[in-house]
Amino acid sequence: MDSLTDDYLLNNISPEDPVLEWLERETNIRTTHGRMLSGPLLGRLLTTFSRMVKPQRVLEIGTFTGYSAISLARGLEGCGHLDAVEKNNLHEELIYEAFERAGVRERITLHLGDAADVLKNLAGNIYDLVYIDGNKREYCKYYELVFDLVRVGGYILADNVLWYGKVMRDPLPSDAQTKEIFRFNKMVHEDSRTESYILPVRDGLTIIRKLCK
Ligand SMILES: C[S@@+](CC[C@H](N)C(=O)[O-])C[C@H]1O[C@@H](n2cnc3c(N)ncnc32)[C@H](O)[C@@H]1O
Repeated sequence: MDSLTDDYLLNNISPEDPVLEWLERETNIRTTHGRMLSGPLLGRLLTTFSRMVKPQRVLEIGTFTGYSAISLARGLEGCGHLDAVEKNNLHEELIYEAFERAGVRERITLHLGDAADVLKNLAGNIYDLVYIDGNKREYCKYYELVFDLVRVGGYILADNVLWYGKVMRDPLPSDAQTKEIFRFNKMVHEDSRTESYILPVRDGLTIIRKLCK
């Protein structure tokens, strides 16, 4: 979507949570990769979606400084819980500070480590909602790793599936990220165990519903 549409949407949806506004500012000051943060347009969507699903258990792959984890945690039902997986331990202090300010510190467990390793330890869990936002070169692997952890009728969301429009180019750019996201989109599209939809919000968000095992 163009920036004019983004601005219009931002001016006509519910305002950003003040803690998330603070987190976005702090992320830009305290890290060198502020661009990775999902931001208010996607954050509000994640909160809305999570409130619709009312999940008891949520799993996130790729937490960065915690913006999307907090956005998703806003929709947790009752004493629901979110497992946030992040490979990089550089922003641990900021993440916990943000969870504390948002009042979700007790509702989110931060697992520092590579998703492939962490998910082995979470193998017994069943999730209502999984959010994939890790390394774009590993999306197919994440999908395979989390699929059995999602309950039938549960959802997997995946961010950046349009990859700046590069997945639509012909010929396809040869960089590893574009090739992997292209492969991921095809894999999801052809998976008869699911139904899915791509929302062209920001960089594209796929909503996948698991129909059967
Ligand atoms: C786009 S950022 C996530 C943004 C975050 N969801 C937000 O809303 O601000 C991607 C994150 O995934 C993490 N990551 C990359 N590969 C990973 C892996 N194999 N396991 C866990 N985290 C990973 C990166 O360190 C980075 O912080």
